[in-house]
Amino acid sequence: MSIITNKFEKMTINKIKKAKNNKKLTMITAYDALFAKLFENHADMILVGDSLNMSFAGKKDTLSATLDQMIYHTNAVCQGAKESFVILDMPFGTYSNKDKALENAVRVYQETNAAAIKIEGGVDKAEIISYLTSSSIAVMAHIGLMPQYVRSEGGYKVRGKTQEDKEQLIKDALAVEKAGAFAIVVEGVLSHVAKEITAAVKIPVIGIGAGNVTDGQVLVWSDMLGFFEDFKPKFVRHYLDGANLVKEAVSQFREDVQDTSFPNSNEEY
Ligand code: KIV
Repeated sequence: MSIITNKFEKMTINKIKKAKNNKKLTMITAYDALFAKLFENHADMILVGDSLNMSFAGKKDTLSATLDQMIYHTNAVCQGAKESFVILDMPFGTYSNKDKALENAVRVYQETNAAAIKIEGGVDKAEIISYLTSSSIAVMAHIGLMPQYVRSEGGYKVRGKTQEDKEQLIKDALAVEKAGAFAIVVEGVLSHVAKEITAAVKIPVIGIGAGNVTDGQVLVWSDMLGFFEDFKPKFVRHYLDGANLVKEAVSQFREDVQDTSFPNSNEEY
């Protein structure tokens, strides 16, 4: 089996925009230098997602992630994947009005090498996105199921089930495109609705739980590599049995220590 299947091309905003209708884009999350380095030449973009609050910090949702934490993890990711297009996910409460959003986004650009930030929201955040993009901040928008809205919405709900919701999602996509977003994450949306959203805008739509009809896909690394065991959303494919491989390896280590086969004479000074 070949390890490297695609030639890696360093991404820029223009290349990401041009990929629409030409090439499917991939994005993977990373939270540290070690994994970012492994992902570097294999995915088009690396997202330092606030999902780290759940899969890295063990919290029940993303809401308590802070900007300090996101900056810390983004610096680690940028250190490990120096050539990658890295996006910092703005945590809950850090972009609730345009001045706060700009102040925090400027901090991100000044304290990390992130190429862009991601913001959850559609029509409701368009004015803020517009303010940021007109102040030279590259913004990826995130519409559909928005994890930062989990408490206000009363749970994680698949979107696009009614005509009204479908129309709202298309309005959201058009609003963030008009506000200057360079791409849109569309999460947890019925596939046929995601197809309409993708067709409605000229910027790439990166789907997660939105079928194969979008311009690309994003997955959380610990989900796709099978490390996160608490639950497996329907849309996740496990490309590795990470949790079991780790458990088997650590058990083997314990066995080898107990029967003194580790370390052997080649593994000592
Ligand atoms: O936080 C995150 O990892 C995300 C992805 C699910 C898109 O926002």
